[in-house]
Amino acid sequence: MLHIALAKGRISEQVIAFLEAAGIHFPEYNETSRKLIFVDDTDSFKITLVKSPDVPVYVERGAADVGVVGKDILEEHSYSLYEICDLGVGRCRMAVAGIKGRSLPTGRRLVVGTKYPAIARKYYASLGERVDIVPLNGSVELAPLVGLSDVIVDIVESGNTLRENGLEALTFFMDLSARLIVNKGAFRFKRKAIDRIIACTKGGTEDGMD
Ligand code: PRP
Repeated sequence: MLHIALAKGRISEQVIAFLEAAGIHFPEYNETSRKLIFVDDTDSFKITLVKSPDVPVYVERGAADVGVVGKDILEEHSYSLYEICDLGVGRCRMAVAGIKGRSLPTGRRLVVGTKYPAIARKYYASLGERVDIVPLNGSVELAPLVGLSDVIVDIVESGNTLRENGLEALTFFMDLSARLIVNKGAFRFKRKAIDRIIACTKGGTEDGMD
């Protein structure tokens, strides 16, 4: 059986739709269920729905053979696994955003609220700018509104969250999408089933493997 870890939410819904369209059916799956593990009707594939930062952890440690996760997670941490292809779903961008119309402070370091401290640090380092990072876990858009930071570094998909909270994107600096990742051992020993998953999600483009 091939064990697939999916980031719960938008990505898992799209990937399960790909699998269903390719004839791999998960009879117990529905988007509103609180159930976390689903097995297909031939007992060949098992899906586990996990929080997105945990997907590569499952795959690296062999708790899952393959996984689908946003590139943001793979950029934020480094893992020993194969990144096979870009599935072309879950497209969004990493942005710097701030309160609409407000200019940035001068004469002191910029304070940046983010769920992605490594990505933010690397981005500002590439500009030669020293900033103070405030690591947060979610609802990052609140940070400038409550005076916790000057700007945020976060993913923007539709832009609705920024708009509805009176923020605006100042710079987009990284294109993101969902990636298929594979455990190194599984890539050798479960190749046939993995190739089937790659075929189901075809349309994705091959990436390099680290
Ligand atoms: C992500 C991101 C933004 C939002 C962007 O948050 O951190 O808040 O989605 O999407 P939009 O541009 O379509 O509005 P997520 O939904 O993962 O929740 P979180 O803020 O709790 O991390």
